[in-house]
Amino acid sequence: MEQYLNPNVRDIKISGIRKFFNMVADIEGMISLTIGQPDFPTPMHVKEAAKNAIDENFTSYTHNAGFLQLREAAASYVGTKYNVHYHPENEVIVTSGASQGIDVVLRSILEPGDECLLPGPVYPGYEPIIHLCGAKAVYIDTTQNDFKVSAESIQAHISDSTKCIILPYPSNPTGVSLTKDELKEIAAVLKGRKIFVVADEIYSELTFEGTHHSIAEFLKEQTIMINGLSKSHSMTGWRIGMIFAPECISKHLLKVHQYNVSCASSVSQKAAYEALTNGINDAVVMKEEYKIRRDYVYKRLIEIGFKDVVKPDGAFYYFVKIPAAFDMTSFEFALALAHQEKVAVVPGDAFSRYGEGYIRLSYACSLEELEEGLSRIESFISSHI
Ligand SMILES: Cc1ncc(COP(=O)(O)O)c(C=O)c1O
Repeated sequence: MEQYLNPNVRDIKISGIRKFFNMVADIEGMISLTIGQPDFPTPMHVKEAAKNAIDENFTSYTHNAGFLQLREAAASYVGTKYNVHYHPENEVIVTSGASQGIDVVLRSILEPGDECLLPGPVYPGYEPIIHLCGAKAVYIDTTQNDFKVSAESIQAHISDSTKCIILPYPSNPTGVSLTKDELKEIAAVLKGRKIFVVADEIYSELTFEGTHHSIAEFLKEQTIMINGLSKSHSMTGWRIGMIFAPECISKHLLKVHQYNVSCASSVSQKAAYEALTNGINDAVVMKEEYKIRRDYVYKRLIEIGFKDVVKPDGAFYYFVKIPAAFDMTSFEFALALAHQEKVAVVPGDAFSRYGEGYIRLSYACSLEELEEGLSRIESFISSHI
């Protein structure tokens, strides 16, 4: 029966990250610099709120968009922190992680034949959904511009079929972000066109210098903003994301969300309420720690001899170029490094073909692990050059 499945589903490949893990999973004594989630526990007060939710039988379906006080807290969180203002009654939807938010949003926007712009390299969670919609992912090569899209590069890729653009900043896998001025310029290019902006800002709280800015500040009517608690509150397993969009868009997103999951887990919603009220600044301590690690890793990468290292503005990743002396694909490089030195990094091609020639290093691990991992990378590099 396999041949009768939706061909768009058959075309989807397992992620490059998974493929790589499957090949190196059994290596003993491996230091992993691949982690895509915070290495801190969920804050205690958030965990207590979830326990109380269970004890108080808050275990039924909630409103499809999430219980109202949580939506109020979510609206106030992004309003206070990022100066973007949404009505909790009809412009906020709580989802099962940002992942489900991305699915709902892209399926609500895209039709067969549409084009969706996105920066390359990029988080691998978008292209399969674009493909499932019968639409086409059109990458904007950012490798020559410190991994940032710009007003000019966007302009150059817009066609009559362009229906949406994904702006995922701070970025996974590169850690870079866009400044307020860069966002304003991009908003000016997109304003008034029939193009939706999907702003995936899941790493917004992990912005190291200054505050995060959202394009929604300048182009609210065309923007659908996605955020969540996985990274800010170390809550990846709780599966809480959020979509913010003008009412005329949200009311349609809500239908797709409703027929998809009904609502996010009620217990997790109570935990999220605690996180977005008493815990609105929980990310600060984690961010300070990531910043120390970021600076340490930068120093080491330069000492080891990596060239053109782009220092991240946020998140917890470095995306570094494999030295020219290596005549290997990023997959071969990562595999050889894992086997010879027992350090795992993610091959760059997992983040689209624009990531070929790079590796992603995560610093969501202890300084000791980073020290050891980077020393092993250093000996791998020096033994080949
Ligand atoms: C850019 C980006 N968006 C979305 C997600 C998914 O987040 P969630 O755990 O909330 O589904 C991730 C997870 O790594 C990510 O890096």
